[in-house]
Amino acid sequence: MKAVILYDSKTSGGSTEALIDAIGLQLAESGAYVEKVKCKALADYSFIREFDLVILGAPVYYFLVASQLLGALNYGNLKINLKRKKIAMFLTCGSPEAMAAVLYLPQLKIHLVRNKILVEKIFPSNVFHDNSVIDTFVQDVLYEYNKTLKSRIGSLKWTIEAQEWLDSVPSFLQGKIKDGAEEFAKAMGYKEITCDVLEEAKGEIGG
Ligand SMILES: Cc1cc2nc3c(=O)[nH]c(=O)nc-3n(C[C@H](O)[C@H](O)[C@H](O)COP(=O)(O)O)c2cc1C
Repeated sequence: MKAVILYDSKTSGGSTEALIDAIGLQLAESGAYVEKVKCKALADYSFIREFDLVILGAPVYYFLVASQLLGALNYGNLKINLKRKKIAMFLTCGSPEAMAAVLYLPQLKIHLVRNKILVEKIFPSNVFHDNSVIDTFVQDVLYEYNKTLKSRIGSLKWTIEAQEWLDSVPSFLQGKIKDGAEEFAKAMGYKEITCDVLEEAKGEIGG
């Protein structure tokens, strides 16, 4: 999985950047390829198409999410390049979580109503150094991301014969076989699950 952390902050090496580095490290340890990119309102964001997951992160200054990220969404081409992207987002701030959820997160979310937002998180200043909170955020992002892959796998077409064969298998095995067969078919580039594909996939999904 290729992830980009797109962030804004006025403070070089400040709390937002420290969080991003910790998040990036954990994602990389889980096997993801991770880049971090600092926002400029009018930059070209077409590079985002290369990434599977976009994590937006920014602090709040004077009741507004940091201006370069908001500017990129409002005036730049970020929003259009985020189309159909899976997104996670977080804010750092001095306010309590509940207040920030009402006042600040909507400033980002209003631009992303058509996106799949996997996880949204507020990091108030009292948790900046709490590794377990960062850990939970990363685990939640990975869990939600993997869930979307599974549901995409589930959208492969089955021929009537292959579906009939699946229906004939004891129901407690059907889920495992279905996921295994679809994963195999996807890896092989097959568009449809046929009886031949099931035969081929047998070895992969445990006979
Ligand atoms: C000038 C300034 C204004 C701030 N305004 C707010 C604010 O309106 N609401 C809030 O919850 N936090 C506010 N904060 C707290 C910051 O959002 C928080 O400290 C954040 O982690 C700073 O990120 P940074 O270290 O990357 O700059 C403000 C901080 C600064 C320095």
